[in-house]
Order: sequence, then C-alpha cells, then structure tokens
Amino acid sequence: MAIRRQVLKGALGLSLAAALGSAAFAQDAAKVGLILPMTGPFASTGKQIDAAVKLFLAQNGAVFGGKKIEIILKDDTGNADTTRRLAQELVVNDKVAVLAGFGLTPLALAAAQVATQAKVPEVVMAAATATITEASPYIVRTSFTLPQASEPMADWALKNNIKKVFTVVTDYGPGIDAETSFANKFKAGGGTVESVRVPLRNPDFAPFLQRASEAKPDALFVFVPSGIGAQFMKQFVERGLDKAGVKLIGPGDVVDDDILESIGDVAIGAITTHHYSVAHDSAANKAFVTAFKAANGGMRPNFMAVAGYDGMRVIAEALKKTNGNTDGDALVAAMKGLSLESPRGPILIDPDTRDIVQNIYVRKTEKKDGELFNVEFAIIPMVKDPVKAAKKQ
Ligand code: PHB
Repeated sequence: MAIRRQVLKGALGLSLAAALGSAAFAQDAAKVGLILPMTGPFASTGKQIDAAVKLFLAQNGAVFGGKKIEIILKDDTGNADTTRRLAQELVVNDKVAVLAGFGLTPLALAAAQVATQAKVPEVVMAAATATITEASPYIVRTSFTLPQASEPMADWALKNNIKKVFTVVTDYGPGIDAETSFANKFKAGGGTVESVRVPLRNPDFAPFLQRASEAKPDALFVFVPSGIGAQFMKQFVERGLDKAGVKLIGPGDVVDDDILESIGDVAIGAITTHHYSVAHDSAANKAFVTAFKAANGGMRPNFMAVAGYDGMRVIAEALKKTNGNTDGDALVAAMKGLSLESPRGPILIDPDTRDIVQNIYVRKTEKKDGELFNVEFAIIPMVKDPVKAAKKQ
C-alpha cells in the first residue's frame, strides 16, 4: 500500500512537474528587442553592436537567471519615427523584456516614452547626449556621454600650450554637448574658442574647414558621429589644415577604430580623449579583440562594439540578480550600481543617474607595425557625466 501510494505520488508529482515545466518553458525566454541602424549612413554602428551582442551570447551561453535571451534585431535605418514604431511593436506584439541598441541620440529619445509607458528597460548602447538618461527612468546607458569625454580634452589642451581652438561639431545633441562642455572648460582656463556647427545629414565640411583654416587656431577640436570620421579627415587634408600644422583634438569618435585604416596616416598625431581604444592594454581587452576579430572576418571592434558587449552583460547580470524575473522595475533596479570589468577598463552603472561611470583615456594616434592605433598615454579614472554631476550640486 505504502509502496503504491509512493508510486502514485511520484507519478502525480511527475505530471505536475511536466505541466509546470511546460508553463515555465513558455516563459523561459527573455526577449531583447535590439533596434539599430543596420542600413544607411550609420550602418557601421549597427554592424558593430550587432556583432558584439552575438559574440557575448556565443561566449556566455545565452541563459541567465534561468532565462534564455532571445534577440529580435530590427533595422531603424537611423530614422527616429521608425525607431518609435519598432519599439512599440516589439513591446506590444513580441512582449520584449528589454529594448536595446539606439545608434543615435534622436533614436534613443524616440523610444523613451515607449519604455516609460510599458515599464520596459531601454539599454542605450550608442547614443551619447548627456540628457538621454533623463528622458525615462527606464533608460540605462552603457556607451558614454560627450561631456564625459570632452571635458578632459580641455584640461589636456590647457596644459599643453594650446591657447586658441576652433571647434567643428555636428549640429545635434552630442555635437552641441561636445562643443559646450569643451568650450566652457577651456575658456574658464584662459583659452579662446571659435565655433561652427555642421549639419548631421549629408555634411559638407569644406566651407567650415575653410573658416577654420583662416582663423589660424593652435588646434581644431572636432566631433563627428562614428562612421563619418573618414569623410571629415579627407576634407581636412584637402583644405591643407594638416600642412598648416593645426593640431587635431577632440573626443575619439573622429578616429574611431573601425575606420582608422581608411582615414590613413593623416590621423597620426591626433590627440583624443575617449573611453575605448582597440589598443587598450589589458587581458580582458586582448581576449575581446581576438574573439571579435575571429568572429567577424578580422573587423576591429570600436567603441560602439564595446558598449554593445557591455550592454548585453548588464542585461545578463540583471537577469541573474532577479533570478529570471523580467519585470522592468526589477531589471532596472538590478542594473543600478552594477560594476564590471569591461574590455575598456572598469565600468559602473551609476545608481543615481543610470548612466555609465568609466575611465577616460588620453590617446595619440600612432602607427605600430604598419597599423594605426589610438595609443592611450594618460588615464582620468572613473569619470561621471559632468552635466548631471553639476546638476546634483
Ligand atoms: C549620438 O547620436 O548620440 C552619437 C552617435 C555617434 C557617436 C556619438 C554620439 O559617435
């Protein structure tokens, strides 16, 4: 009798487990809607982040906190209306647990309201205007902010006998952030600044570089979004600015690792401040670069790739911390305060702002063994976004 009961209980137990198992199985996936510009002028950002996300999942097995991460990749072509529509569809139809990607500032901002209303985390892996994280309490950023990268450039210029700077930036959020944060700091330290802004779409740098050349500055500070640097540098040479001895300085976007070879030797000597170089000297970075190149036909990872890789890691760590609970508030709470060793160095998700805190490196573009690299030679440790830091005071 006792034995029969035992067997029965066992059988019941099994079928219950099977039933529960299938219910659990239906919820086993944590879908991540990855929205990137995979075509159009900013496709290099999409390509880099997509490759990094795939690498992270291939290396780490894709199951975290009992949930299997499933990526749904969508191409917004760099158009903000498309980003908004895709974000809505991913939330409503696909029931994604997380929205991620966002190649440009207007695209990150376009999804912010969707994230807030649906209570779904929006992990920003590229866009870098300081205020983005304030557009929704569900935004967490793993890229950088332009003021974070540009203020240290002003400090370096002031210490290196640069007195007069001409700034050329792309005329939208991150460019304005770069110009403003650099100019304010540089002027406060006694420097003078003249500034021009270039349109985002179909930029023609020639007339702006002509003005820069006439101004005879000690240095030209430039911000153009990732992918546009080669176009800029070609016109920099055509205007003879390199021959005139004008030093090129700025955040590192213009000498992005992905396009450095196509820019060529004219980039040699540029001084930039940024959070990632493919030449960053650490074991974690060497492993990342080797694996990334092996998986992508030798393509170098750039700062977009590293932010995509770390963005996936942040999502994975959050799922582990919540034991697979995909509730948006729980995930954002788990992301706050995360600190990780990234290929770029240590990073922290600021628990107050949900923005990234990281080292900014001063680098010089150099040729080593026939290849161009941004070689880091100084570190400003664990820099917070200065715009939000100033608001807190
Ligand atoms: C942005 O649109 O926020 C953005 C894009 C590319 C960059 C930096 C910022 O390299």
